[in-house]
Amino acid sequence: MTDLLEDLKRTHHCCELKDTDIDKEVVLMGWVQNRRDHGGVIFIDLRDKEGITQIVFNPEVSKQVHEKAQEIRNEYVLGVKGKVTARPDDMLNPNMETGAIEVLIDELRIFSRAKTPAFQIDDRVEASESIRLQYRYLDLRRPKLKNNILARHQATMAIRNYLDNKGFIDIETPFLTKSTPEGARDYLVPSRVNQGEFYALPQSPQLFKQLLMISGFDKYYQIVRCFRDEDLRADRQPEFTQIDMELSFVDEKQIMAVAEGMIVAIFKKVLNLDLVTPFPQITYDEAISRFGLDRPDLRFGLELCDVSDIVKDAKLKVFANVIKNGGLVKAINAKGCASFTRKQIDELTDFAAVYKAKGLAWIKIKEDASWQSPIAKFFTDKETDDLRTRLDLEPGDIVFFVADQPKIVNEALGQLRNELARRLELISEDTYEFIWVTHFPLVEYDETEKRYQALHHPFTSPIEEDIDKLSSDPLSIKSRAYDLVLNGIEIGGGSIRIHSSELQENVLNCLGIDKEEANEKFGFLLNALESGAPPHGGIAFGLDRLIMLLCKEDSIRNVIAFPKTQKATCLLTEAPSKTSTRQLQELAIRISKIEE
Ligand code: AMO
Ligand code: AMP
Repeated sequence: MTDLLEDLKRTHHCCELKDTDIDKEVVLMGWVQNRRDHGGVIFIDLRDKEGITQIVFNPEVSKQVHEKAQEIRNEYVLGVKGKVTARPDDMLNPNMETGAIEVLIDELRIFSRAKTPAFQIDDRVEASESIRLQYRYLDLRRPKLKNNILARHQATMAIRNYLDNKGFIDIETPFLTKSTPEGARDYLVPSRVNQGEFYALPQSPQLFKQLLMISGFDKYYQIVRCFRDEDLRADRQPEFTQIDMELSFVDEKQIMAVAEGMIVAIFKKVLNLDLVTPFPQITYDEAISRFGLDRPDLRFGLELCDVSDIVKDAKLKVFANVIKNGGLVKAINAKGCASFTRKQIDELTDFAAVYKAKGLAWIKIKEDASWQSPIAKFFTDKETDDLRTRLDLEPGDIVFFVADQPKIVNEALGQLRNELARRLELISEDTYEFIWVTHFPLVEYDETEKRYQALHHPFTSPIEEDIDKLSSDPLSIKSRAYDLVLNGIEIGGGSIRIHSSELQENVLNCLGIDKEEANEKFGFLLNALESGAPPHGGIAFGLDRLIMLLCKEDSIRNVIAFPKTQKATCLLTEAPSKTSTRQLQELAIRISKIEE
């Protein structure tokens, strides 16, 4: 086949031509968005990455070309040459960048024909997500998705420029590596040359970036893929991208300032928005107490209120008993929502039950200030008065209570708070509320494993004053970890690290990892820490989540070119898939029959 492009060189993109270009000879290339045959004259919207231009095939311009144009269908790929002309007045389209002109075509190449697409390339046409994922290359032709991918590119350019200017060095770290401790399940890769042994794909470059600090690189960054085999949700993918960084000789303040500068640069570049810094900070304890979750959404109020002291002796046994057993009773006043129906209250009760709340008690304040509630009769006058004052109860309000162990109360009411805000439409889509959450506990107790787990990861430094409580009272130790939360979503997390091998061993010991296991798993790090380790710390941002929020999407799948489903499959390539017996033999792997 001859080179079709040899004598047809693109002169413009499909967004460019204006009335100032009238009479120019131009060459455009692109896809057929749609085709209309108006009594012998064929109009086509030609689309490329940049936009759309109307092209016209008129038999009076060229009978032969018009003839050939008859066969054109949607999504054919064309190269066309012609002359820019003004549209007739009644065909001007002020909503279109190129709406003042059209191009009269006198030369046509059909580069490719196309089957009827599985769905129309148009944001207004709904297609099921599974079809969109199966034909992702078609989906990526649609403006919304394409623009998300372009925004992502803008963001990564802004990130690279910003970090490069600050002296960060982009260094790649291995994918075929040893298990990294971010707390999820590993993806394993069998080794052919070392049969029976496995690499783990990194959950993050955590240990390598610390080693790079020990090597003296001072400031590292990488926009890097991480792999975690965990239950997937709208904001989780099995492979996702981190903006990962690590710095030497810095404290929390300096890291937060660099990170804020980067976020400011991204928002400026992608949305042309000027964010105000520094972002506010809140301690973990305060976040849990007021919002129930360690990722508070600050776009609305509805704060949680502890009423345990008021109801501890109430005749209502579910409340009093819970408090006797070390639990809490907390409440949310949904102001002005006393009109909630029984059905709505039942739905909210079911919602809270997902987060293990055993019930959702409620009180409605009627217009005459009297209470309507299944539990009102259990309170004394004093308790009633105290609740009214503490919860600011006014006619028209409804208040919801959860009584349980603190973890359940906070989680259930924290989630209920977000759900109420969604239902009451309290969330403004155009607001970006950032907040740093600091002073996380170092460890939490894992009831199933019967041991302490690092809340961030085991390389996070405890705060200086708490170090001596490592053996006596680990749960009370605060760490030097911080998360950045945007609109209720954790977009980044990091910490100041331990840079002494002795402290590192003590922390691992507290996590139930003895010297032998520590050496087997992280011996290389412990050795490195004995070879001159600078004080260091860092942070990693979830790039996909950040772009999701920038693009006002509600799933990170919509900002990833080739994402996986909730079941971690790729509908386009049909991965994962079975492999050949030969490949398995080479890896010395036998699949035992898996019963459905
Ligand atoms: P962490 O585990 O908090 O920290 O991860 C950092 C950020 O990555 C994003 N993220 C995800 N995004 C999409 N899908 C996932 N499955 C997923 N998991 C995490 C989140 C999160 O805030 N090595 C440490 C960082 C450090 O200490 O410097 C780490 O990986 O936005
Ligand atoms: P019961 O005594 O089980 O009929 O419950 C009376 C009310 O208290 C109902 O509205 C329940 O939803 C609510 N309730 C029961 N257990 C709890 C709990 N642990 N926390 C909050 N409300 C509860």
